[in-house]
Amino acid sequence: MSDPIFRVATLADVEGIAECCAEAMMEDSLFGALWPRRKEYPDQFIGYFRRRARARILDHNVVTLISEIPVQENGTEVLKVVGLAQWQKFGKPSAETAWSVYKAAGSSLVGFQDWAYSWFQPKETASDPVAIASFMEDCTEMERNFWFRDGKELDRWHLQLLAVHSMARRRGIGGRLVELGVERAKRDGCDASLEASPMGLPVYQSKGFEVLDTFMMKVKGPDGEPIPSPMLQWKNPDIRR
Ligand SMILES: CC(C)(COP(=O)(O)OP(=O)(O)OC[C@H]1O[C@@H](n2cnc3c(N)ncnc32)[C@H](O)[C@@H]1OP(=O)(O)O)[C@@H](O)C(=O)NCCC(=O)NCCS
Repeated sequence: MSDPIFRVATLADVEGIAECCAEAMMEDSLFGALWPRRKEYPDQFIGYFRRRARARILDHNVVTLISEIPVQENGTEVLKVVGLAQWQKFGKPSAETAWSVYKAAGSSLVGFQDWAYSWFQPKETASDPVAIASFMEDCTEMERNFWFRDGKELDRWHLQLLAVHSMARRRGIGGRLVELGVERAKRDGCDASLEASPMGLPVYQSKGFEVLDTFMMKVKGPDGEPIPSPMLQWKNPDIRR
């Protein structure tokens, strides 16, 4: 089997990313709570990841990394997106997250397009707005409790999302997408951080991340209990503490 390709995503990859994320997150307990009717309305679930992928690719502070493998489609070999990591830089900007006119203009355009489309699109019925609001509160609290010092964001690369399509798991793709973030942290002289799902935890620990604590979210899982969110950090050995 040929080796997977790893590269930074562009807007041309949005569709492939959206399909990969929706497939990879279909059985995830957090997305299950936020999108309880995602299996009945898979197009809405893909639509969410499409909007998210476009916004992150056009965000100056985020680098979207993808992995592709060759697959056969109608007798032709094409590259399929089978993995994705969204890494966000907090604290000091890095050369890779510098302001660009292309991203600034693109993001205004896409914002306007989404607003215009929202007038004509049917109402979203697959997600749970109460669970999403509660998750947003959880995110703010996690951010404040773990990743702030003296009122400032810690200087770090933070993994927002990691997803590998079920057809390409256990081939080292998730691990490599994590390493590529750690390499950025080494280059920029900062740490790396993330909040893990139960499935992601072994991948992160195998790449040197340590659990700092576990935050119990207000969002409830399928068993009606709060979903635990382990908080992990990769500590850069070059930093004197
Ligand atoms: C978690 C996920 C990204 C892992 O991707 P992957 O490409 O299969 O990961 P890798 O092949 O790089 O695995 C690296 C190591 O992590 C561990 N690991 C990965 N998946 C594992 C699993 N299901 N159970 C136990 N260990 C696992 C193993 O140590 C593995 O090394 P090995 O295959 O040599 O034993 C993928 O399963 C996924 O997308 N899951 C659904 C979404 C999700 O949970 N994302 C994480 C959000 S925080």
